[in-house]
Amino acid sequence: MGPIDEPGSSAPLIRPAGADDGVWISNFLRERWGAATVVVHGEVIDAAQLPALVAEPRRGLATYRRLGGEAELVTLDAVPPGSGTGTALLEALTRKLGADGCARLWLTMTNANLSALQFYLRRGFRLNQVRPGAVDQARGLKPSIPLVGEHGIPLHDELDLCRVLDPRAQNVSVPPPWGKLQRDPVAAARRGYAEELRCTVPIHNAAVVKAFATVPREQFLGPGPWRILSPMSLAAYWTTESADPRHLYHDVLVAIDETRRLNNGQPSLWACLYDRLT
Ligand SMILES: CC(C)(COP(=O)(O)OP(=O)(O)OC[C@H]1O[C@@H](n2cnc3c(N)ncnc32)[C@H](O)[C@@H]1OP(=O)(O)O)[C@@H](O)C(=O)NCCC(=O)NCCS
Repeated sequence: MGPIDEPGSSAPLIRPAGADDGVWISNFLRERWGAATVVVHGEVIDAAQLPALVAEPRRGLATYRRLGGEAELVTLDAVPPGSGTGTALLEALTRKLGADGCARLWLTMTNANLSALQFYLRRGFRLNQVRPGAVDQARGLKPSIPLVGEHGIPLHDELDLCRVLDPRAQNVSVPPPWGKLQRDPVAAARRGYAEELRCTVPIHNAAVVKAFATVPREQFLGPGPWRILSPMSLAAYWTTESADPRHLYHDVLVAIDETRRLNNGQPSLWACLYDRLT
């Protein structure tokens, strides 16, 4: 794990986060945002599980994720502020993503963080859209989101910002990449199912959660409707209402050959076993 950016003598050293940073990252995010999870554009994101860049000596953190050919900056923090850490993290991240072929970097912020808005707008980001009332809705999922922000401004709305990384992707009036995920209800169900398994198994390894969030279970079964065995009632199979793959994203057994009681494995059992292997 070597440094990826050493821009100048006064700028902090920026390096990718490693396994040893896990506890510090969770604690830092909790301290900064009240929890390691952030709620943005209707999605609950566990920022502690994401790839991240660290500004040494642990004075700043950027967490991010790839979304297809684009990327999202999920959190950015500098302690203390105003000493070049945020800029160094952002520039190191954009260089890394650009080199990886990423077209645009996106982020979502609240309407009451005017100094961060200024920070981003002066560093190549453009406003893409405003979602009125989105922070009020997010507060339903994360009650610790404050009611009032900088300068006494009430927190209500979300702003999406976008910075072009690939000169061929100049158009910033395109929809944000997370919208594509939300428009795919099966992908959304798959992610919800993985999150449920993360909590109930529980799964500790982010790669195992990611596998459950991305591998389509329907590809390992015949066409629906499917015959299901619930762990609450193992005596008899029942039939799903339709061939909608969302029926498969629960902690249930699905018949492959009912006469032999041969089933597609129970997700929580396999999640537990894979997690112990890692
Ligand atoms: C926003 C933030 C990441 C910027 O990082 P930073 O290290 O403070 O910024 P730098 O020192 O590299 O750059 C200073 C610039 O940031 C701006 N800035 C934003 N918030 C600031 C703050 N609280 N204190 C000082 N400068 C701040 C300054 O106005 C200055 O802008 P300019 O250079 O364009 O004139 C950091 O201030 C921070 O952690 N803020 C709280 C968390 C947050 O709001 N994160 C963004 C969520 S979307």
